[in-house]
Amino acid sequence: MTQAAAMMSPLPSEQASAAVPLPLKVRGMTVSYGATPAVFSADMDIAPGAMTAIIGPNGAGKSTLLKATLGIIPRLSGQVEVFGQPLDRVRARIAYVPQRASVDWDFPTRALDVVEMGLYRQLGLLGRLTRQHRSLARDCLDRVGMADFAGRQIGQLSGGQQQRVFLARALAQGADLYMLDEPFAGVDAATEKAIIDVLKSLKDEGRTILAVHHDLSTVPDYFDNVFIINRSPVAAGPVATAFTETALQSAYGGRLATGLLDQLFPSAGPAPMPQPFPTLDA
Ligand SMILES: Nc1ncnc2c1ncn2[C@@H]1O[C@H](COP(=O)(O)OP(=O)(O)OP(=O)(O)O)[C@@H](O)[C@H]1O
Ligand SMILES: [Mg+2]
Repeated sequence: MTQAAAMMSPLPSEQASAAVPLPLKVRGMTVSYGATPAVFSADMDIAPGAMTAIIGPNGAGKSTLLKATLGIIPRLSGQVEVFGQPLDRVRARIAYVPQRASVDWDFPTRALDVVEMGLYRQLGLLGRLTRQHRSLARDCLDRVGMADFAGRQIGQLSGGQQQRVFLARALAQGADLYMLDEPFAGVDAATEKAIIDVLKSLKDEGRTILAVHHDLSTVPDYFDNVFIINRSPVAAGPVATAFTETALQSAYGGRLATGLLDQLFPSAGPAPMPQPFPTLDA
């Protein structure tokens, strides 16, 4: 067994999946832009009703994994199941918020229009937006603190404001699985708090959140589970068991900020005094 395979936590879903299908199950995914795969042989099980962080260094294949999972880019190999079904049958149950840098912000669209786009899939080809749809879109903008910017062109909003609008669009979709690529990138502390509050309320409603995340110091606070990747999966499972110093060192090598590991994993203090006899609770 390779080191990476050994560090993968057991997949309890292997037993559970027969009964309740997982929100997302990926098997043997390999994606390549050129000769070297950007994602190699990745298996991923995403637990329902939980928040999972995908973490790994720049260039580790996190965005590639999300995009290939959603069929936005082709994969060389691998299977994807969403709620136990092929992706095409359940697209309406997924909301995706791409990494900000990858979006063209120049199209002449108001913030409210962007949110309403999240409703089109529910409307179908012949459906029209009703007053209720408009009001739902406004509620979603309100939920992310952007009600006052409904009429503003999307390109004339700050990066953090744009991020909130795209989260509002995802909210309008009423999805069961939210996939977000770095929702906190380049936003201030207030926006980060607003976004995490919205994500936590989605989780409280039983929805599943999968987010690429860079700030390792907030992982234990924000997330239930982690999926650590560096081209191939390094570790996966609950934060308490999978988010370990060994796994982070394996994924990031020397690219971790000085002192971060001490902050995340403070040592238990001085070694205990040797005891002459074993204690009852030893
Ligand atoms: N369109 C593309 N064409 C060629 N190579 C690409 C393309 N997109 C990504 N890559 C390469 O694939 C690898 C994985 O990229 P990816 O964007 O998935 O990484 P990431 O983990 O999301 O990184 P970051 O943390 O910087 O967002 C990188 O080496 C990257 O240079
Ligand atoms: Mg990325």
